[in-house]
Amino acid sequence: MTFTFTALLCLGLALGLGTPVLAGSLHKPVLRVQPDSVVPEKTAVTFLCEGTNRAIQYFLYTDGDTHLTQRKATLNAKNKAEFVISKVSQNDAGRYQCCSQISEGRAECSDSLVLAVTGAYSKPFLLGQPSPVVTEGMNVTLQCASSQHYKFVLTKEGPQKHSWTLSSQYNHYTGQYYALHSVGPVTSSQRWTYRCYSFDSYRPMVWSEPSEPLELLFSGSLHKPTLRAEPGPVIASGRSMNISCQGTLDAEMCFLHKEGTQTTNELGNKCTRSIPSVAQQHAGQYRCYCYSSAGWSERSDTLELVVTGMYNDNPFLTALPSPVVTSGGNMTLQCVSRYGYDKFVLTKEDEKFSSSLDSQYIYKKGHHQATFSVGSVTPVHSGTFRCYGYLKNTPQLWSVPSDALKIHISGLSKKPSLQTQQGHILDPGKSLTLQCCSDINYDRFALYKVGGTDFTQHHGQRTQAGLSVANFTLGSVSRTTGGQYRCYGAHNLSSEWSASSDPLDILISGEIPATPSLSVRPNSTVQSGDDVTLLCQSTYTVDTFILSKEGAAHQPQRMKSKSQDWGSQAEFSMSAVTSALSGTYRCYGSRDSSPYLLSHASAPVELSVSATASENQDHTVENLIRMGIAILVLIVLGILVLEAWSSQKPSHHVPEI
Ligand SMILES: *[C@@H]1O[C@H](CO)[C@@H](O)[C@H](O)[C@H]1NC(C)=O
Ligand SMILES: *[C@@H]1O[C@H](CO)[C@@H](O)[C@H](O)[C@H]1NC(C)=O
Ligand SMILES: *[C@@H]1O[C@H](CO)[C@@H](O)[C@H](O)[C@H]1NC(C)=O
Ligand SMILES: *[C@@H]1O[C@H](CO)[C@@H](O)[C@H](O)[C@H]1NC(C)=O
Ligand SMILES: *[C@@H]1O[C@H](CO)[C@@H](O)[C@H](O)[C@H]1NC(C)=O
Ligand SMILES: *[C@@H]1O[C@H](CO)[C@@H](O)[C@H](O)[C@H]1NC(C)=O
Repeated sequence: MTFTFTALLCLGLALGLGTPVLAGSLHKPVLRVQPDSVVPEKTAVTFLCEGTNRAIQYFLYTDGDTHLTQRKATLNAKNKAEFVISKVSQNDAGRYQCCSQISEGRAECSDSLVLAVTGAYSKPFLLGQPSPVVTEGMNVTLQCASSQHYKFVLTKEGPQKHSWTLSSQYNHYTGQYYALHSVGPVTSSQRWTYRCYSFDSYRPMVWSEPSEPLELLFSGSLHKPTLRAEPGPVIASGRSMNISCQGTLDAEMCFLHKEGTQTTNELGNKCTRSIPSVAQQHAGQYRCYCYSSAGWSERSDTLELVVTGMYNDNPFLTALPSPVVTSGGNMTLQCVSRYGYDKFVLTKEDEKFSSSLDSQYIYKKGHHQATFSVGSVTPVHSGTFRCYGYLKNTPQLWSVPSDALKIHISGLSKKPSLQTQQGHILDPGKSLTLQCCSDINYDRFALYKVGGTDFTQHHGQRTQAGLSVANFTLGSVSRTTGGQYRCYGAHNLSSEWSASSDPLDILISGEIPATPSLSVRPNSTVQSGDDVTLLCQSTYTVDTFILSKEGAAHQPQRMKSKSQDWGSQAEFSMSAVTSALSGTYRCYGSRDSSPYLLSHASAPVELSVSATASENQDHTVENLIRMGIAILVLIVLGILVLEAWSSQKPSHHVPEI
C-alpha cells in the first residue's frame, strides 16, 4: 500500500520512533472502526483511537483515494479520541492509521486498518460448487462471478470472520470473470456464511454491492423441518403462491434452498418464500434446512414444484370405456394430444394420485397418447382427474391441463332398477323422465348415459311403498337423448355407488329418412301354437331392424337385416305363439353408426292369437281321447265282422252240398 513514512514526514510531523507501523512500542495507540471495516456508502463511521494519558493530540491519517489527509480529533478524555465520518463516501475508502502526539516532536502510531466502502457497482454472484449443500469434513469450492470486474473479495461472516482477495479467470462462453476459492474441511458445529464483492484494481477499497449471502447447508440429525407449498406443489403459471418451511421451536434460522440457485433464509423457525406470480424459473426442487444452537436439522423432504400452463396445447382425457368403474376392477384413462409431448402425467385433484408415462405416437390417428391403467380400484380412486403433457428434459414444466374428468366407483351393493313410463322409443320433442328406484334406502341416485361423461345426481325420495326413488327429467327428447342409460344408488356418507342397474335403451324415431313396412305370415289371426313370422322390409338400406310391441315393458327386439336387391329386410320368427303375444307391432330401421337413432315407424300391425296355451293342451288331450275311442270302436267292429264272417262260412257251404 501507499501509506509511507515519507508521506507522513511531508506533513511535517516528526515521529518519535522509527516507522509508525513498528510493532512493540509501549505506547502505540490502538485503532478501531465502528460499525465495521466494510460498510455501505452513506453509513456513519466512527474511528476510535485509544492511546495513553500522556497524549496531547491525536491524528487520523488515510491514503484515501489519492492523497493523505489528516484529521485532528477533539480530545474528550486524554487517552482516546473519536473521528466521525457522518456519511462515508467512496473517497473515504482506504487504509487508516492513527497517531498520538505525546510531546513536541514525538508521536506513536497504530497499526493500519482498512475501510472498504461498498455499493459502488452491482453485485456479483456467489455460488457453492457443485452445491451449497455440504457434509461434515467436506471441502467446498465457492465461485464468485461478475461481468464487470476481474478482482474479487470473498468474506466469511460470523465469529470466525475472514476475507480473501481473489484473482479471476475469464469465461468466454458466459462473458464473465470468475474466481474460485476452496474452503474446508467444513464442520457442522458452526455456520458458514459467505459473501463476495468485486472491485476495480485501481481502487481496491471501493467495492461492489455484496453478493447474496451464501450459506453452506448441512443435513444434520435434529428433527427435520416440514416444507409446504400453498396452494399446492402443482401450480398454474401466473398464480401467486407461498413455499414455507417450518422448523422446530428452537430453530434460530431456516434456509429454503432451490436446487441450482440461491437460498432464501429468515431468522426464526419459519422461512417463507412468497411468489406473487409463478413463472418457469420457479419450477424445481426445494429443500429446507434449519439451524439451532444444538446444530443443524435433518433436511426436509424434497418439494417438487411444477409449473403448469407452459404449453398451450391441452391434452384430452377420457375414461375407457366409462368414467364409472367397478370397485376391484381396472380403471383405464387415456390422455391424448396432437402436440408432440414426450410424457403425459395423470393427477388427481386431491393430490393422492399421480402417475406419468412415456407418450406413444399413434401413426394412424396422428396423435400422441398414453394409457394409464390402475388395477383393483377402491372408493379412494373416485374423484377428479386431469392430465398434462411435458417434455422429458423439463419434467417440472407442464402443459395446460386437460378438462377435468370425474371418476365414480360402483360397488357391490344391490342394483336399483331403471324404468320409464314413456316407452323405449320416442319421437323427438316428446318429454322423457327416467325413474331410478330401489328397495334399499339409498339417499341419492345417479344417472349415467353410457359413453358420456355426465353423471347426474339427485336425492332419493321415500315412497309410501317403502321404496327409494329419484326421477331424472330429461325434458323434451332430441337425437342427442338416444342412448343407453344406467343408474346407481348410494348412501350420503359413502363415495361408493351401488352396482349398476340393468341398462335401459332410449331410441329416438324419425331420425333416418326411411319408413319400413311390417307384415305377418302366415296370417295376422292365428291359433295359439302356430308359428308366426313378422317381416320388416325397407327399400332404404338399414343395418338393423327393431320390432316393438305397444305397451311392452321389455326392450324392443333387434335383428340384423339381410340385404336384398331392392333394400333390406329381417324376419322376426316366433314359434308356438301364445295369446300373450297378441298386440300392436311396429318396426323401425337403424344404422350401426348410430344404433339409437331410428327410422320412422312402420304402419302398425295387429297380431291376434286366438286361443290360450292351456286350451291348446286341452284340445290335444281331447283329440287323443277321441282317437282312442275311434280306434276302440274300429277294433270292436273288426271283431264283430270277423265273427260274422266265420259263422257265415259253414252255412255258405251247406247250400253248395
Ligand atoms: C480438504 O482440503 C484439505 C486441504 O485444504 C485436505 O487436507 C483434505 O484432505 C481435503 N479433504 C477432502 C475431503 O477432500
Ligand atoms: C401467502 O402468504 C401471505 C402472507 O402470509 C398471505 O397473505 C397470502 O394469502 C399467501 N398466499 C397464498 C397463495 O397462500
Ligand atoms: C385388470 O388388468 C389386469 C392387467 O392389465 C388383468 O390381468 C386383469 O384381468 C384386469 N381385471 C379386470 C377385472 O379387467
Ligand atoms: C316420479 O315420477 C312419477 C311418475 O312420473 C311420479 O308418480 C312420482 O311422484 C315422481 N316421484 C318423485 C320423487 O318425484
Ligand atoms: C343426504 O344429504 C342431503 C343433502 O346433503 C340431505 O338433504 C339429506 O337429508 C341427507 N340424507 C340423510 C339420510 O342423511
Ligand atoms: C286369415 O285367416 C282367416 C280365417 O282363417 C281368413 O278368413 C282370412 O282371409 C285370412 N287372411 C289372409 C290375409 O289370408
